[in-house]
Amino acid sequence: MFVARRLPADLHLSLAEHTELSVWKEPSPPPREALLSAVAGAEGILTMITDRVDEELLARAPRLRVVSNMGVGVDNIDVGACTAHRIPVGNTPGVLTDATADLAFALLLAAARRLTEAFTFVQAGQWKTWDPNLLLGRDVYGATLGIAGLGKIGEAVARRAHGFGMRILYCGRAKPHAEAHTGARLVSKEELLQQSDFVSLHVPLTPQTRHYIGRTELEMMKRDAILINTSRGAVVDQMALRESLARGHPGGAALDVTDPEPIAPDDPLLRLPNVIVIPHLGSATAQTRAKMAQLAIDNLLAGLAGRRLPNCVNPQVFD
Ligand code: DGY
Repeated sequence: MFVARRLPADLHLSLAEHTELSVWKEPSPPPREALLSAVAGAEGILTMITDRVDEELLARAPRLRVVSNMGVGVDNIDVGACTAHRIPVGNTPGVLTDATADLAFALLLAAARRLTEAFTFVQAGQWKTWDPNLLLGRDVYGATLGIAGLGKIGEAVARRAHGFGMRILYCGRAKPHAEAHTGARLVSKEELLQQSDFVSLHVPLTPQTRHYIGRTELEMMKRDAILINTSRGAVVDQMALRESLARGHPGGAALDVTDPEPIAPDDPLLRLPNVIVIPHLGSATAQTRAKMAQLAIDNLLAGLAGRRLPNCVNPQVFD
């Protein structure tokens, strides 16, 4: 089996006793050619969200019986191709829900209260006195939060927002149960964009959600609204976002994900004062990453044993 990165808490070591193991030990992902040759004899692979699994890779891995992705998003994997080859694909939902929701809410608060600007201000020695007009942010209490996609993570964000006294709108599939305990109200995407002070994105990246937020959607948002993205960078048309933010509409963005990743350090988006960008840290707590790694291992071992994966995105391969 091939494991495409050292796992948190060295959990990959637990695999050595099960079967022949090869681990990519560099801190950055295996370059494409290295990945293709590493999978040549592998019966199972444990991938990161940075590793592309497609027809080309499957053709180079004739013995492959399971793909286990350490992440809930599987947009790096051609699931259709894996299904056609009857290869189960595992992912790691659930265990990262709260950590990711915490980060989305941290971004919301940081953008609302201009925390990164404020810290830069202090670092630059500009803090001279208490000033009634200094770095004024936005109230979160009483503001309207629009959640695009009320899946597990979206719902966990709604729970947090409820505690903060926000009015919550959501669009996408109806979730009556979540409505009952968060007060969230289902509206159309257009209404959500028009009425929200904060818009938080929680849709998976698929061909249908690529550029889910583009120029038209940005123009629908309130002039001073703040966009928060912890899903995938390509869910937003980043060029359109950059141009819109430069014009001050919407008022700000807080992004955990970019398109591409990493964003180039000289990207003009990073120079805008109303933007926060962090390096895809949604699930990045020691506890959560250890749980994700363990679940990815469990999926991998189940696939190698010919059993159903604890979390499988294409369970039809077992029918
Ligand atoms: C995922 O799991 O898809 C996240 O983006 C990485 O934590």
